[in-house]
Amino acid sequence: MKKIYLIYPDKKGTIAPEIYGHFSEHIGGVIYGGLWVGKESEIPNIRGWRKELVEKLKNINPPVLRWPGGCFAETYDWRDGIGKNRPVRHNWWGYMDGKYETNEVGTHEFVDLCELVGAKPYFAVNITSITPMQARNWMDYCLSPRGSTTLALEREANGHPEPFDIPFWGIGNENWGDGGDMTPDYYALEYRRFSAVLNNLKRESDRLFVGGANAADYNWTHDVCKNLSDVSHTKFNGLTYHFYTCPGVHCLDFDENGWNKVISTAQQMEYLIDRHYAIAKGFGLEKDMKLVVDEWGCWFSGGSGPSKGQNLFEQQSTMRDAMVAAFTLNIFNNNCDKIQMANVAQICNNLHALFLAGGEHCITTPTYHIFDMYKEHQGAECIGVSITDNDELLNSITVSASIKDSKTLVTIGNLSCINDVEFTLEGIGAYIGKLAEGILLYSEDMNAHNTFEAPYTITPKQIQIDLTKPILLPKTGVLSIRF
Ligand code: AHR
Repeated sequence: MKKIYLIYPDKKGTIAPEIYGHFSEHIGGVIYGGLWVGKESEIPNIRGWRKELVEKLKNINPPVLRWPGGCFAETYDWRDGIGKNRPVRHNWWGYMDGKYETNEVGTHEFVDLCELVGAKPYFAVNITSITPMQARNWMDYCLSPRGSTTLALEREANGHPEPFDIPFWGIGNENWGDGGDMTPDYYALEYRRFSAVLNNLKRESDRLFVGGANAADYNWTHDVCKNLSDVSHTKFNGLTYHFYTCPGVHCLDFDENGWNKVISTAQQMEYLIDRHYAIAKGFGLEKDMKLVVDEWGCWFSGGSGPSKGQNLFEQQSTMRDAMVAAFTLNIFNNNCDKIQMANVAQICNNLHALFLAGGEHCITTPTYHIFDMYKEHQGAECIGVSITDNDELLNSITVSASIKDSKTLVTIGNLSCINDVEFTLEGIGAYIGKLAEGILLYSEDMNAHNTFEAPYTITPKQIQIDLTKPILLPKTGVLSIRF
């Protein structure tokens, strides 16, 4: 039997709420038909946003929403999305799904969604096809005080007198790839230019993020950090990278092997954090380059979702995706000293989605429930965890623990798809009491998933837990314990 020690004196730091962030790109069915149904729609909506989704999203306390891309951001002109006459453009992703961008959702609408759900917007700035001055104008439009500049007056005329609260600005997206095929040296110079014109317009506490690597491209991180380590004027407040779990297995039709491949791929997140952070630290940049995992999640081939391939990259979600979320969020919690933000990709009708929506339907995936079960980690102090007999990955459990307002939350996932596991909990440096509230997310069938027809196939169960006795966690199950 495993033993989990909760080591209360071993405080690892505060878990930034933004680690529980989301990504909402203009791609496939994420915005149009998913989050956004339009103001005139018969589907219940709040100023165009799907009401049911807004309410469910609000329930998990989303701290941040990244927008408008992704790759979409690299051909986005913010002026297209304000005012009355909005042009129809080619969507960046149109070459894959033939869809056009109507710009019905622009800056005002998106900020409205953020305000409705209580999230902060994180804007990805196009550095591939607009000038630094155009990007600066977007910032001016958003942040300048009421009545100050001509762009602030334009914002006011468009219905928002007060400045928008946009605390996070990412400089580019995947500039090593579709964002311009740049070399790290070239990107760093572009970063300097954009930062020079944006930094002195942003508010003191707003953060500018450096565009980082694709997964384990440590060379990119090294060269960008090197180029930014000797600057005197350039400012930065975070280093991003993207990492998807995509080991080439099927989304729904998988066996033990398919489970194991995905879990072992997801584990790489831990090494990525260590190494990217170590490189930044090597250049003395660790304080200003705390990591931002802009995009993460499972990426399987599309077509398994309810739209049957109509929505680009839309995929279904099983307990395996929920386990990747549980595992990854535990890794983030346990590395909260190195990470300031992370955004699961993407929120609705896409890759590792929390929602699947179409027509009048709006269902939650198992991953949604993980975010719900973990939400009290946001802003909590992470404490140390030590587990006995937990060496072999595929026969082990993933755990993180935190304390907030004198309440401890422990989140545990059984990474095995064949063996149930028994464990006991023991507090070191604090008495953990006798009784606890538990929530268990589990399905007998690891391939099961929620559909429009059967939306509650995988739903969490509330349980009472006796902390003085061994606790059973079934294979593939995730458990949260709060006391
Ligand atoms: O999430 C889908 C796409 O994946 C994003 O647009 C891009 O940044 C990444 O390659």
